[in-house]
Amino acid sequence: MIRKATQADVPVIHRLVEHYARKERMLHRSLEDIAEHIRCFSMAEDGGRAVACSALHVYAPDLAEIKSLAVDEAFTRRGLGAGLVHYQLEEAAALGIGRVFALTYEAPFFEKQGFHLSDKQGMPEKIWRDCMYCQKYDDCDEVCVAIDIDTRRPASVLPVVDG
Ligand SMILES: CC(C)(COP(=O)(O)OP(=O)(O)OC[C@H]1O[C@@H](n2cnc3c(N)ncnc32)[C@H](O)[C@@H]1OP(=O)(O)O)[C@@H](O)C(=O)NCCC(=O)NCCS
Repeated sequence: MIRKATQADVPVIHRLVEHYARKERMLHRSLEDIAEHIRCFSMAEDGGRAVACSALHVYAPDLAEIKSLAVDEAFTRRGLGAGLVHYQLEEAAALGIGRVFALTYEAPFFEKQGFHLSDKQGMPEKIWRDCMYCQKYDDCDEVCVAIDIDTRRPASVLPVVDG
C-alpha cells in the first residue's frame, strides 16, 4: 500500500534516509526538515509497516523533483520503489506538473520507470541549493534523470510521446 506520510512517519523517514546517507547514497535530512516538508512525502507499507519513503519537491510551475527515495534494504526488489515513483508521478500530474526529475546513482532503476538521462546543467539554479551542503560538491557523480508526463491524464501517468 502506498499512502501520503503523516507526522507519525517522521522517525521512520529519518531512519530510512540516514541509512543511505551514511553510505553516501543520498543527502542527510534532519528530523526538523522532514517534519517541515512532511506534505511532500509518501510512504510504502509492507504488512502494515512503513518500509519505504519518497518525497516530491515542487521547484517551478512545471518542474518537480523526486527526493529521498529510500526502500528498507530488507524490502527491496518487491516493487515498492517503483510503486512510490509512480505514485509521485500521479501526484505531479494531478498538480499539473509536466516534468519530474531526480538526481541519483540509480539511473537504471529510474530508466525502468520511463525516465531518461537528462542534462543536469539544464535544470534551474535553485536545484543546486541542496548541492551546496553535499560533501561531494566538487566531485559529484550523481546523474540527472527526467520524465515528461501527460498532465491531462493524472489518473494514469504516461510519458509524453512526441510532444
Ligand atoms: C533504488 C531503490 C529505490 C529501488 O527500490 P526497489 O523497491 O528495490 O525497486 P523495485 O523493486 O520497485 O524495482 C523496480 C524495477 O527496477 C529494478 N531495479 C531495482 N533496483 C535496481 C537497481 N539498483 N538497478 C537496476 N534496476 C533496479 C527491479 O529489478 C525492477 O525491475 P523490473 O520492473 O524489470 O522487475 C532502492 O534500492 C533504494 O532505496 N536504494 C537506495 C537509495 C537510493 O539510491 N534511492 C534513489 C535516490 S533518488
